[in-house]
Amino acid sequence: MDYTHFCPTKTAAWQHLKEFAKRDPINIQRQFKTDPGRVADLSITCDELLLDFSKNLIDRDIWQQLIALAEQSPLAAHRSAMFSGESINTSEDRAVLHTALRSVAENNPTNEHLGNALERAQRATDVHRQRQQLARISDKIRAGEWLGSTGKTVTDVVNIGIGGSDLGPKLACQALAEYAQPNLNMHFIANVDGAEILTTLGQLNAETTLITVASKTFTTQETLLNANTAIDWFENRLGLANAQTSSHFIAITASRHNARAFGIDDQHILEFSDWVGGRYSLWSSIGLSIAISIGSHNFDQMLAGAAAMDDHFLTAPLNANMPVALALLGIWYSNFLHAQSHAVIPYCERLNLLPTYLQQLDMESNGKSTRLNGQPVDYSTGPILWGQTGTNGQHAFFQLLHQGTHCIPVDFIAVADDALSNPTHHRVLLGNMLAQGSALMTGQSAAADQPHRHYPGNKPSNTLLMDRLTAKNFGALIALYEHKVFVQGSLWNINSFDQWGVELGKKMAAEILGDDASKAPMDASTAALYAHLQKITI
Ligand code: F6P
Repeated sequence: MDYTHFCPTKTAAWQHLKEFAKRDPINIQRQFKTDPGRVADLSITCDELLLDFSKNLIDRDIWQQLIALAEQSPLAAHRSAMFSGESINTSEDRAVLHTALRSVAENNPTNEHLGNALERAQRATDVHRQRQQLARISDKIRAGEWLGSTGKTVTDVVNIGIGGSDLGPKLACQALAEYAQPNLNMHFIANVDGAEILTTLGQLNAETTLITVASKTFTTQETLLNANTAIDWFENRLGLANAQTSSHFIAITASRHNARAFGIDDQHILEFSDWVGGRYSLWSSIGLSIAISIGSHNFDQMLAGAAAMDDHFLTAPLNANMPVALALLGIWYSNFLHAQSHAVIPYCERLNLLPTYLQQLDMESNGKSTRLNGQPVDYSTGPILWGQTGTNGQHAFFQLLHQGTHCIPVDFIAVADDALSNPTHHRVLLGNMLAQGSALMTGQSAAADQPHRHYPGNKPSNTLLMDRLTAKNFGALIALYEHKVFVQGSLWNINSFDQWGVELGKKMAAEILGDDASKAPMDASTAALYAHLQKITI
């Protein structure tokens, strides 16, 4: 099916929604009064995840038209195309199959969607081999059997990577700290700012340190420079020649060729397929640091949780489909109520990197303005995503949520039962989350002479509860947001899987950093800044 010409604004549902948006705003509290079934009908459960989206600026009619919008779009065909391995990343002519990484179990229904029989067999074989290698290596490191060049057991693992080669593994290791191997310390280096790597390495013993260089392309400037700094560090500390060939270095990449050219030992290269996008790669060999930290069994659980969410996304009716619901609500706010940003507030300290992770997932995927047929969009696409943990955010930016002038829908996320906390703290944490969602919606009026005490209320939020922060539930949570982003991209008819917008800056940096900066085509302001820096440092 050719859906490249689809334009959401031409659907009947879009036109209805436009009319609804012109009416008086929905009063959420009044909706609860007039519609006793609202909470039950606007809640969805998927295994140990519960989404309550009843505190949104929608009524039954709006919800119905949002569902109609999804029905009138090519979402179903696009979703099948993704799961079956069609090249839906058209600008790079690639399939998008991160879902295949979590569906290798023989009886998993999503297996049926992995392309034709031949491709399916080849992909399943590759995924299986990569998964086995990841398990073998991570088990060996955790068992203390992976030795450094002086014969000592690894105590510290430093993952060098950036973007998707950093954020997913870092988030997962932190979120699943409950399962972490106590005698292994995980470190993550992403920034090219030398202060980061030099400070981290400065605290470590080279004899017991292992570097995982994670890069899909193995061409990323920041990652290769950091890896070279690590090589120098090993060579200086241990008197090694060509430290990159030693057991202190493992490469994780979709380009064995480039990792080899960098000098990494062939035995120490973990591959993954180029149909795994960088920001969708934590499920692949890029997840090695996760498996090292939490063990390959728990890594498999994480994949199983994501696979369960894939099944839900594929099979649940649209009006009871969690990713679809989150996506449609986001579209209602962005395209009809003109919200420009979306806040994600996890009430769970171990999820404090979730907003940062979701920034790449959402903004690199849907920060686009060209439709699949090359035409410019004439509607908003991906929102500005931001957030931080509660309760910290309450003492920082919640003022603006409660009394500011912007419409900012919020996702509250909480874990019902937290083994790492204690009942007293956890009760206070959850009580605060419930209070904030409620306060944003109910507001409170104030005496006429105290307008500054007035809370307008009627501010929308979703609440997502998970029973416990297990590897499985964590996997489901991440897959939920992946599919939300997919649905939105599909309805906006943009390519959620490329990232051409980041290329120009890379090219210009290469020119500025080239042999002769004076030949770099710099605008007047940049040239003046360069000249100023040159006086001091560059
Ligand atoms: O420049 C953006 C980007 O390509 C991201 O999409 C990606 O996650 C990151 O850079 C790192 O890329 P790589 O894994 O190839 O080093």
